Amino acid sequence: MAKITAGVGTSHVGALGVAMDNGLTGNDYWRPAFKGFEYSREWIASQRPDVVILVYNDHAAAFSLDIIPTFAIGCAEAFQPADEGWGRRPVPEVKGHSELAWHIAESAILDEFDMTIVNKLDVDHGLTVPMSLMFGQPKAWPCRVIPLAVNVVQFPPPTGNRCYELGKAIRRAVTSFDQDLNVMVWGTGGMSHQLQGQRAGLINSEFDNRFLDLLASDPETAARIPHLDYLREAGSEGIELVMWLVMRGALSRYAREIHRFYHVPASNTALGHLILEET
Ligand code: DHB
Ligand code: FE
Repeated sequence: MAKITAGVGTSHVGALGVAMDNGLTGNDYWRPAFKGFEYSREWIASQRPDVVILVYNDHAAAFSLDIIPTFAIGCAEAFQPADEGWGRRPVPEVKGHSELAWHIAESAILDEFDMTIVNKLDVDHGLTVPMSLMFGQPKAWPCRVIPLAVNVVQFPPPTGNRCYELGKAIRRAVTSFDQDLNVMVWGTGGMSHQLQGQRAGLINSEFDNRFLDLLASDPETAARIPHLDYLREAGSEGIELVMWLVMRGALSRYAREIHRFYHVPASNTALGHLILEET
């Protein structure tokens, strides 16, 4: 049977991808940010996941205000990096896992989570930057990826608790899939940041670190954080953190923290990263 072995949380700051694509990771500004992923790259090379369910949000690259799915699952065989206005990122195409994705869609929908099924999808920095952070710059990505897009762009996004419960439904789906697969679930986005308006540049390290603590050791409390708290405390884009709760919900209560990294600033945001491993 398929098994969920670990969860990864990470910011998906677009500028980190730009830094990698342009060979800037060794400069004074970026070196400290990438340092936090050195352990992670060694760890993931030893873990060799077959499939990553990558929870991210599309930033109006594949979707627009025309159609706004709350939860969308990518069931295609492959996904191209999106052109977000300055060409596609020079990263490999993302190979999907159609069979598992359809199984998750079926299981989750019959479990009363009404997923949108997407058979054609370009994936933006929300998905490709975490891939680059964790795997570096290989010629081909070393695992399959199932994109799971969450609307956190247009109000109302799903609640943290709904995201946490979706994670549990994903766990039920994966563990009932009849193939021996090492599956990881990643949650991306955050941490505190606001990219526009009077509070642009807002960073709240206290909130961020409390969120990381709760996610690791008291996820039920993290799942109850209301939208207004994210907005007030973590800025308008801090709401991306609800996607980390999908990842946490997909893990058991025995999952333990094996790596944490927090760095300010990365572009306009706080960069957060957490690895939780099943025991
Ligand atoms: C940036 C983009 C994001 O999507 C995000 O969540 C944080 C930062 C950026 O480009 O700076
Ligand atoms: Fe984002």
